[in-house]
Amino acid sequence: MKNKNVIDLEALTPEQLERICSLAEEIKRAPEKYRHSCDGKILATLFYEPSTRTQMSFQTAMLRLGGRTIGFDDPMNSSVAKGENLKDTITIVSGYADIIAMRHPSEGSATAATLCSSVPIINGGDGGHLHPTQTLTDVITLNAEKGRLHDLTIGLCGDLLNGRTVHSLIKTMANYKNNKFVLISTKALSIPGYVRSILERKHCEYKEVSSLKEAIAELDVLYMTRIQQERFASEQEYMDQKGIFVLDCEKLALAKKDMVILHPLPRVDEIDVKVDNDPRACYFKQAVYGMYGRMALIYLLLNDRDFAFDCYKPQLSDSKCKNPKCIVQSESYLPYNCKYDSDGHLVCNYCDHIIE
Ligand code: CP
Repeated sequence: MKNKNVIDLEALTPEQLERICSLAEEIKRAPEKYRHSCDGKILATLFYEPSTRTQMSFQTAMLRLGGRTIGFDDPMNSSVAKGENLKDTITIVSGYADIIAMRHPSEGSATAATLCSSVPIINGGDGGHLHPTQTLTDVITLNAEKGRLHDLTIGLCGDLLNGRTVHSLIKTMANYKNNKFVLISTKALSIPGYVRSILERKHCEYKEVSSLKEAIAELDVLYMTRIQQERFASEQEYMDQKGIFVLDCEKLALAKKDMVILHPLPRVDEIDVKVDNDPRACYFKQAVYGMYGRMALIYLLLNDRDFAFDCYKPQLSDSKCKNPKCIVQSESYLPYNCKYDSDGHLVCNYCDHIIE
């Protein structure tokens, strides 16, 4: 079975990922060649959560390809405010648009949307779960700035529990040979178990540490992240984690001269603004690479019939996912849907949490 939904970058073959990266570079070099490649097509951006980069870069990408956009950036300005469920919104919008990019606070919401959409769904972030087009952005940036995707020591620092960009990036970079991961966080914000299982299953070298200052010297890449205030149960729990990891010029002085600093943005206080002037700071360039990556992705999804991904037939289950942040908790009509991972665990097909 094949489909054109971009839920998790894992579904793409290395060749497909490479094709998007090289097309993004080609579009960056010669944008005029692609100016009319999506004439007459419509992208819907359905953003149930705030966004600057993802939403606007998707919209800009479509406009630069000659297409048009519709959508909402606040569900309270749509019929969601009157109680419309995800199924009905997606069913309706997929009759209006040729492709949908969506962001939603519940984990697994993008997969849930695919069940009722007649057009490709692109996951622009589903709660703390995944953010595949950010990973595409990160991969394109690394390819351009480091010249390779393998043999890298990659430090990821900050909120590794709730940072969906971290989960997506680890899953993708674990596929390239000799990448090592240095996971820099407090215990409370360390990576979720399913991401750790992936690192172990793929036999990746990784360590979990609590000091950015001690770890920075060995890194080829430092991926800083914001503490995700909106994912905490209380203000106090957020305040306990805030401000622990800050990249400043003093720490940067200990880093390799060719280390690349990435950040999915938005930044709060985890990178001192003085670091912005350092040539190693690539996070603003990264956001621009993201627009070209999204142009390449939209172009291929809409123009190349064969650009599709393997997917498996979901297995229905009697067991409900217990992850309180999973989409099945709020959209009660959804079938319980599971799969077996390669360790034999039954996992939720929406949010990837282990059911049993
Ligand atoms: N990187 C990213 O997802 O940024 P936005 O939240 O502004 O879209």
